[in-house]
Amino acid sequence: MGLLAIIGGSGFKSLPDLELLDARQMETPYGATSAPVTRGRLGGEAVLFIPRHGPAHHLPPHRINYRANLWALRASGAEHVVGLAAVGGITPSFGPTVLSVPDQVIDYTYGREHTLYDGASGEVEHVDLTDPYCGALRQSLLEVCARNGHAVVDHGTYGATQGPRLETAAEIRRYERDGCDIVGMTGMPEASLARELGLCYASLAFVVNWAAGKSGSIITMKEIEENLALCVERVMSVLTAVAGAR
Ligand code: HPA
Repeated sequence: MGLLAIIGGSGFKSLPDLELLDARQMETPYGATSAPVTRGRLGGEAVLFIPRHGPAHHLPPHRINYRANLWALRASGAEHVVGLAAVGGITPSFGPTVLSVPDQVIDYTYGREHTLYDGASGEVEHVDLTDPYCGALRQSLLEVCARNGHAVVDHGTYGATQGPRLETAAEIRRYERDGCDIVGMTGMPEASLARELGLCYASLAFVVNWAAGKSGSIITMKEIEENLALCVERVMSVLTAVAGAR
């Protein structure tokens, strides 16, 4: 496998186990990235890292420059990309602290710069997104979970919502009827842009709360942060093993 890049989300504005080599602020045709692209070592292997919400978690989901981030990672040599995703759980198998490698996406976002083919380049390509995530990288994530004894749900439909607000209970009921298992705010257009750029992209999702209306109480940041903290070590272990598996 080629060079691995990791896109950090909530709870991962840096990677605790990353041995830092350098960080490069890059120019892209799409404007500024969320942060400089960091090069480092994880599990003894070179990896790239970028926190999608920025170094101070200042960028809300709809303001992230997904195009610039993915373009910069590819220009830096990335072939494989793991997008970390803190999500809400909708269906019964996806309770707080569960790890999942989703296999499908439904995009409910709007108003985001979501394609490289926006007319400016004079070309349009309609990329296939039947399977929105890269099979080889999904397999690799699932194998290292199995080898390291981390329980993981080997599928899941990710509903990508606009945020930054959380959903209403009725919205979550609708997403469940649509077939969503988990809900997050950044999974799209990240996955489809990765496909447009020819990157092998998969998501490693970790559930940090029951989605709205699923637990009998409202969602608090305290609950989200506590569950996030319970996921960090496992997520790092999976990333280190995936980096080392190549
Ligand atoms: N909804 C949307 N995005 C999220 C949630 C949620 O409940 N939890 C973490 N990210």
